[in-house]
Formats: sequence, structure tokens, C-alpha cells
Amino acid sequence: MEPFPVIIVNFKNYPQSIGESGKALAKILERAAEELRINIILAVSPVEVHAISEAVSLDVFSEHVDHDGQGAHTGKITPEDLLANGARGVLINHSEDPEHLNVIEEAVRACRALGLQTIVCVPDAEQAATVAPFRPDFIAVEPPELISSEVASIATARPELIQDTVEAVSSITEVPVLCGAGVKSALDTRISFELGAQGILVASAVVKSPDPATVIKDFVVGFALALEAREHAEDEEADE
Ligand code: G3P
Repeated sequence: MEPFPVIIVNFKNYPQSIGESGKALAKILERAAEELRINIILAVSPVEVHAISEAVSLDVFSEHVDHDGQGAHTGKITPEDLLANGARGVLINHSEDPEHLNVIEEAVRACRALGLQTIVCVPDAEQAATVAPFRPDFIAVEPPELISSEVASIATARPELIQDTVEAVSSITEVPVLCGAGVKSALDTRISFELGAQGILVASAVVKSPDPATVIKDFVVGFALALEAREHAEDEEADE
């Protein structure tokens, strides 16, 4: 299976994401990934990492990490704990769980040292350029005002944000850019991919759906349309 485009499903703290419901959702997404040959990564609450990573073969990331090392700390989620409990990566600086820049840098460094992948979320291209030198594995741009939107998405309401972020990051490093906030349709994934995003970060449209597999299928259609258009343009260019 190709690593890109990638769909990262952020489970958040929805009732559908917890305990047996979370495991059932993870299994639906695992089946969808196999059937559609699409890379799906699950970002889940740190307390669900162990159960979900045991239940499915998809990569499971924690939605939070504390960069404190091992030792006399209480109630912290260390990279070592996450690794020992089956995590393959972590989500850092989500707008619902923001961190200071020095903490982001330190968390990326600590995770990399253990082989844990990192997704750093940013609200705009400027912050993307600031975190790019930290060399996370992914940078995800999400305008906070469009998160959970049932009407608009980053792709339909703020497409320039995707393009600006891709340009800003690619001028510094090759870290792949993802986008998220309100993503819910094939149109969103088509526009995102056309603008250079290598995947999406999505929550409500999948987690709250009565039929998450169909939502994923729709996303894959959007990626395929964008890929087709890209190949067509390349062929035309070659013919000229
Ligand atoms: O991390 C994904 C997220 O913040 C986007 O949420 O519900 O708009 O897909 P949603």
C-alpha cells in the first residue's frame, strides 16, 4: 500500500471513539483501508492507544504526548509509555491541545529518538514555516474556526491556506503537508490533493457518521480524481 495519500482519522473524545465503540470504529476503518488500498492512520486518546493498537493492524498515534522523560513525574504521557503500549506516532499541537514552540520542538525530538512518528498541527502557513525545521514526519494545517464545521471545509472555504502552507514548508524541507478542518467529501479531498496536500486529518465526518466506510470511500474517490487530472495534465505537457 502506498503511504500517500494518507487519511488520518482523529478519534477525539466523541462517544463513538471510546472503549468498545472505539474498537468497532477502528475495525471498520481497518477493513476500509484494506478494501480501498488506502493508508489510514488512527489518532486516538492516549488511554485508548493500547486497546486500539491491539485490535487493529493500522498504525495508531496518540493525540497527546508530554515530553518529560521517564522518572519522577505524575500523570504524564511519555513517549516511552506510548511506544510500550503500541503507539507508532503522536499528534502534537492540535488547536484543541496547543503547546508552546519549545515544547513542540522537544516533543518531536524525543519521539524521533524512539522511532515514534510525529504530526505537528498548525493553524497557518507562518507557523508551518516555524515548525518545519523541527522535521516532524507530517505538518497538518487546520484553521481552528472550520474544525467540526458541517457546512464548510478548509478546501472549500480557505483553499489558499493549503497552497500557502505547502509552498512555505516545501521551501524549507520535504516534510509532507496534510490539511484538515471540516473535511467531509470527495470534493474536499480532490481540492486538497490538487493543491499539494498529501493527505487529510479528519474527525467528525468519519467518527460521527452512521457509515464511516462510505465516507472513506468518498475521500478515496476525490484523491483518485485529483490523481487522474494530474496524470492527464502531465501527459498533455509531454505531448507538447
Ligand atoms: O484533527 C482533525 C480535526 O481537528 C478536524 O476535525 O471534525 O473538522 O474533521 P473535523
